[in-house]
Amino acid sequence: MNSIEVCPQKIYEFWCDDSILTLAKSLLCDPTFKWNKITGAKNKDKDIHPDVDARQRSSVSDDRNLQRDERFQPVANWMEECLEEIRIEHNYKCEKFNITRLWGVKAHDKSDFHGHNHPFALLSGVFYLTDSNTKTWFSEPSIWERVKFVNDIPLTRKPTDAVSQISSEKGKLIVFPSFLLHSVDSHMDTKEPRYTMSFNSFPSGDVGNGVSSAAGLNIEIL
Ligand SMILES: [Fe+2]
Repeated sequence: MNSIEVCPQKIYEFWCDDSILTLAKSLLCDPTFKWNKITGAKNKDKDIHPDVDARQRSSVSDDRNLQRDERFQPVANWMEECLEEIRIEHNYKCEKFNITRLWGVKAHDKSDFHGHNHPFALLSGVFYLTDSNTKTWFSEPSIWERVKFVNDIPLTRKPTDAVSQISSEKGKLIVFPSFLLHSVDSHMDTKEPRYTMSFNSFPSGDVGNGVSSAAGLNIEIL
């Protein structure tokens, strides 16, 4: 039996100007910036890191709507310019993609993050503010596993999943469909935390004006 590779996929990568990187990092590293420890669900991806408390060594910004913070406007505007390129590339029938949430993440030594996706968003992104050994892992179930699950896609990566690893490099933004399962492996650096910003976005304005698409929506992002 021979196997044939089919249906390769892609996500997108953008690089910011130094001014955007410097601004974002200075805001997140400001001593007055408010962080909350990430608590709750235990680490589900034992194959990434066996330490069940690892997730609790990460912090998330107290404000998860930084797109509404004046100081972050240049960063959010640049991200929306990147989304506009994707909207044009794929001829999405909407006026614009708006950032609906924007938050910061500070990962301390040995912290990782379990597999997840971003429900009720369409396009999401990760903006890397620091270099790190860490990789963001994306995976899609094998089409042969989907035969078993049909529409019930599990949030745990399986050995048969197609996997890609994206490196953390300061100044890089990646954008991907929000349903895509992703996780982060361990940040191994006792000297500097790994800083990233993540966003979710949703179409706005007149949406679905094609004959075959959802009809007549006009969406305003507040
Ligand atoms: Fe995520």
